[in-house]
Amino acid sequence: MKLNFFRKLDTVVISLFLYKYTSIHFLNSHNLISLLIYALVSLRLSQEILVLSCLQQWKYILPASERPNVVEHEKSTGAADNANLELPIVDFAELQGPNRSQVLNSLASACENYGFFQLVNHGIPYEIISNMVDVSKRFFEMPYSEREKYMSADINSPVRYGTSYNQRTDGVFCWRDFLKLVCQPLPDVLPHCPSSPNDFRTLAVSYAKEVKFLFLMLVDAILESLGLMNKKNTTREDEDDDDDDDDKDEEKEILKEFEDGSQLMILNCYPPCPQPDLTLGMPPHSDYGFLTLLLQDEVKGLQIQHQENWVTVEPIPGSFVVNVGDHLEIFSNGRYKSVLHRVLVNSMNYRISVASLHSLPFESTVQPCPKLISETNPRRYMDTNFASFLEYMKSRDSTKKNFLESRKLTS
Ligand code: OGA
Ligand code: NI
Repeated sequence: MKLNFFRKLDTVVISLFLYKYTSIHFLNSHNLISLLIYALVSLRLSQEILVLSCLQQWKYILPASERPNVVEHEKSTGAADNANLELPIVDFAELQGPNRSQVLNSLASACENYGFFQLVNHGIPYEIISNMVDVSKRFFEMPYSEREKYMSADINSPVRYGTSYNQRTDGVFCWRDFLKLVCQPLPDVLPHCPSSPNDFRTLAVSYAKEVKFLFLMLVDAILESLGLMNKKNTTREDEDDDDDDDDKDEEKEILKEFEDGSQLMILNCYPPCPQPDLTLGMPPHSDYGFLTLLLQDEVKGLQIQHQENWVTVEPIPGSFVVNVGDHLEIFSNGRYKSVLHRVLVNSMNYRISVASLHSLPFESTVQPCPKLISETNPRRYMDTNFASFLEYMKSRDSTKKNFLESRKLTS
């Protein structure tokens, strides 16, 4: 550890600020002994302020091999922007029009090759979106005493405020605070939803409802892109076909299941970090669930793994970043990919994102769709459900796609 890391006055000032205004101050017992030694050495040097700074920051420093290599990357490519990725764009309005089949093809290729796309023209009023980002910001700006009320050791709690990724198991902490809100069934969960800021509930609920509707429309498109639905523009003759009627019933059933399905909203706050190259806002992970709809503000940070490189997703204001989750990879029997992603932090700006994770009801079993399995394309994943995922989360490192890997059948 380089000593000059702790010598920067701005580092100290920022960390004191963070100490006061964020919940990023949990001690990691793993590093406690090294921390104390460091603290004692610093005390001997009568640099008390350094002690605070070191206590604060030590637990966020990743081993060299896991650091984001931001600086090296910028140096080697000449400019940070070279690492930015223009994700495939899906125009939701076009999807409802005469070009639906072309848009479905690009949707399918995005899910196969990137696991991600940006959704524009989605029809959710701009006000609902900007209010959601704004009220999230105001939530994290509240005094710690207000935010702390929503902390819970129970990972099943419908409302849970916390820090890092999995604060009970993380060896090194992430530079992130979060608020998780279970949104299904809304009437049961609503009373637990934060009542401050005082417009939080109203804004979060109207946002959650809009995103859920959008998700259902996307599922419809995804099923069609997998060849599981009748084309929207069918002729009369097609509609008379008995097989098609059976298909329609099945589709309706799948869609109905998703209507009653799970929805988890995660509000993420990434404060400015004095040494962004030593830590991460979120470690590499894939998302549990069928689809995630992510709203990010204008500050960059999200990176996805694409062709073995980490590439930054360029924010498009007002759009959604949509990604395939583990359940869709399983459901599609591996055709659509649940891709690793992570979050970088920066030294200048707060970054806010709101992730909405959707899937089948918590008690449902997720399995490869029988229609997508054949002799030439045998089943690649075993059945799974939410309970087995929670068990996995409790027992192991939930990052790096391990859960999904554990569901793979080896032939
Ligand atoms: C997540 C996630 C990315 C971001 O919440 O699962 O990947 O940019 N968020 O905050
Ligand atoms: Ni994620």
